[in-house]
Amino acid sequence: MSATTHIPVLLNETIEALAVEPGGRYVDCTLGGGGHAAAILDHSSPGGQLLGIDADPDAIKISQARLRAYSSSTLLINDNFVNLQAICIKYDFLPVHGILFDLGLSSLQLDSERGFSFQRDAPLDMRLSPSQEVTAADIVNTYSENELAHLIKTYGEESHSHKIARRIVQERPIKTTLQLARTIEQAVGSRRGKIHPATRTFQALRIAVNQELEHLEAVLRQAIDLLGFEGRLVVISYHSLEDRIVKQFMQQESKDCICPPGIPTCTCGHTARLRLINKKVITPSSVEVQLNPRSRSAKLRAAERFTAQAHDEQYKTIEKLCFSVGVQTGGLRKPTLLKKLREAFSTP
Ligand SMILES: C[S@@+](CC[C@H](N)C(=O)[O-])C[C@H]1O[C@@H](n2cnc3c(N)ncnc32)[C@H](O)[C@@H]1O
Repeated sequence: MSATTHIPVLLNETIEALAVEPGGRYVDCTLGGGGHAAAILDHSSPGGQLLGIDADPDAIKISQARLRAYSSSTLLINDNFVNLQAICIKYDFLPVHGILFDLGLSSLQLDSERGFSFQRDAPLDMRLSPSQEVTAADIVNTYSENELAHLIKTYGEESHSHKIARRIVQERPIKTTLQLARTIEQAVGSRRGKIHPATRTFQALRIAVNQELEHLEAVLRQAIDLLGFEGRLVVISYHSLEDRIVKQFMQQESKDCICPPGIPTCTCGHTARLRLINKKVITPSSVEVQLNPRSRSAKLRAAERFTAQAHDEQYKTIEKLCFSVGVQTGGLRKPTLLKKLREAFSTP
C-alpha cells in the first residue's frame, strides 16, 4: 500500500450527526484510515468506546497504528460489515449510541496496486478482502456478453453498456486495469464530458465483486436493531445507487404506514423506527471539495432510533386531539387516527 493518507470526508458534519457524547458506544463500520474513528474517540472521551470494522486487512493495520493512543477504548475487527449484528453480539457491544458507514473506498485503496483505479496499471482484482474468491478479472473474462452488458448497465448506469461488453469480449483475455480502460475507450471513444469513459464500468465491476448493494441493504436492517433509544445512524455514500438505498430505507423506516397510496385504512402494521435528522441530504462545502476533490460526490444522511416512549407520547397526543374533536379512537393505529383527524379538521 502506498504512503497516501485518507482525508475523512464531512468530518464535523459526521460527528454532529452522530451526536457523539463522552462515554458513548460507537461502531465505525468502514474504518478505512481511521480518520472518522479518531474523531469519534476524541469526542467520546472520557469513557467512549469504539468498535471499528473493515473488510480490508490493510485498513485494520493502518488504523491500529493510528488509533494506538486509544487502544484501551477500541476494538478493531477485520470482517465484512454484512456481519455487523453477529460481531456486536459476539463482542457484547450493545446497545450502540451511533453507527457510521462511510461507504466505498479509501484513498489508500484507490492509490494501491489492487486494480480499483484506471489511473494506474495493476491486475484487475478489486476485492476489498483477499479472502473473497471472485476478482474483477474473473468477471471480465468469464461472463457472457449479455451478462457483462447487464452488469455494466445496472451497476454502472452506463448507457453504452452493450458496446463496451462487445468490445471486452473481443479483446479477452483482459488482465490489467489499463488494458480494460483502453478497451472501453476503443468501444466508446476517449472523451465523454467530464468523466473518463471507463469510470462507470469500473464502478460496476467493483460493486459486483464486493456485492456492495446487497451488503448495504442487509446491514441497514441490522443496524437499526442495534441502536439504543435515540441512537444515531449516519451514512455517507458516493454514488446514486448507494444513496438511493439509504434514502429509501431511512424514509420507509421513518413512516408509520407504508401502505400503497389510496388505501383507506392502514393494513401494513408498519411502525416508524427512525426519525430523520436531516430532511435534506448533507453535502461537502465548496471549500472541502477544493481541499479534497474525492469528497465531491459525498452525501450524508442521518437518522435517530425512534424511541418507544416518543411513539407512545405521540399516540397519546393524537388520542387527546381525537377526543377533543369527537373522533372515536377505538385502539386504531396512528396513521388511521391521523387520517380521521385530518378529515374532522377539514369538515366545516
Ligand atoms: C471511504 S473508506 C472509509 C474511510 C474512513 N472513514 C476514514 O476516515 O479513514 C471506506 C472503507 O470501508 C471499507 N468497506 C467498504 N465496504 C465494506 C464492507 N462491506 N465491509 C467492511 N468494510 C467495508 C473499505 O475497505 C474502506 O476501507
